Amino acid sequence: KHDYTKHLIAAIPRNREDTREDELVLEAKDLNVYYSVKTKGIFGKKEQKHVLQNVDFYIRRGEILGLVGESGCGKSTLAKCIVGLNKNYTGTLKINEEHPQLVFQDPYSSLNPMKKIGWILEEPLRIHGMKDKKKRKELVNQMLTQVGLDPSYADRYPSELSGGQRQRISIGGALILNSKFIVADEPVSALDVTVQSQVLNLLLDLQRTHQLTYLFISHDLNIVRHFCNRVIVMYLGEIVEEAEVEEIYEDPKHPYTQLLFHSILTDERKLQKITDSEQSREDASSEGCPFYHRCMSRCDICASKRPERVNLSPEGQPPHWVKCFKY
Ligand SMILES: Nc1ncnc2c1ncn2[C@@H]1O[C@H](COP(=O)(O)OP(=O)(O)O)[C@@H](O)[C@H]1O
Ligand SMILES: [Mg+2]
Repeated sequence: KHDYTKHLIAAIPRNREDTREDELVLEAKDLNVYYSVKTKGIFGKKEQKHVLQNVDFYIRRGEILGLVGESGCGKSTLAKCIVGLNKNYTGTLKINEEHPQLVFQDPYSSLNPMKKIGWILEEPLRIHGMKDKKKRKELVNQMLTQVGLDPSYADRYPSELSGGQRQRISIGGALILNSKFIVADEPVSALDVTVQSQVLNLLLDLQRTHQLTYLFISHDLNIVRHFCNRVIVMYLGEIVEEAEVEEIYEDPKHPYTQLLFHSILTDERKLQKITDSEQSREDASSEGCPFYHRCMSRCDICASKRPERVNLSPEGQPPHWVKCFKY
């Protein structure tokens, strides 16, 4: 099943020379999001669901930060907070970039089927008050070329495009206002394997030519390994581990990260077993470690106290944060 990583290794040469260590594009401190949900049954009452919990992280200019975690753990919720689609959070979210843009997972529902590609790509320009029609057309043509499509695609409808081509349009739409910071929420998950690596290569090309910064959300650990510079791991809305990509893949510290990485390497079925996020959410107590019920290395303290994050790296090395009492 995962043979295509070989393909990806060859196709995606990672480079971090563009990363500017000192400049942050994003700083999140103590982000929390609650959704109110109705409990089951006819007497269902409103309950607060704690979807993001004390989320702390940063993104450097020019880097590709991977965000991984099982379905339902809160990745898209975080993405929406960053691009301004969810304003219902507490904590601070400082974004040093004018237009953070989102590229969605589903290339089939994210483009308006009634409008031609040219119109879709022009829309952000119109919204931002660019009145000059000729100039808009020119920018659209340039953008189409940049995402690897012929300018004649401006006259087509989304239904005439393949999944990969649509995702190229979504990427073009995200970049047309000259955004330098892109939140890509599972941008290739819906695509075929060969198309995946084409789109990933396009994202990398664009990153280099435009000095872009990405938050790259994925549940595909093989892609993250070859695409990202640094990784944060989320479990039930909490960041449980964060490190440079080589470090975390070679030496994952959190029992959840270990389980996640181990499952993908050994057996697809095991992954199924650990993907019931809803059940985990119900099991997780609000006091102890959220991973307590599934953890192989738990001890007494884990049931009653929440671990703080600790940095396991020696001084002078890039940090390796983990939230676990083992350390
Ligand atoms: N609008 C909403 N109202 C209530 N619950 C929601 C809403 N959106 C998402 N959720 C819940 O929040 C949790 C996180 O969802 P999401 O951020 O989409 O996770 P992911 O992208 O990691 O799959 C899930 O349990 C999901 O059911
Ligand atoms: Mg999602």
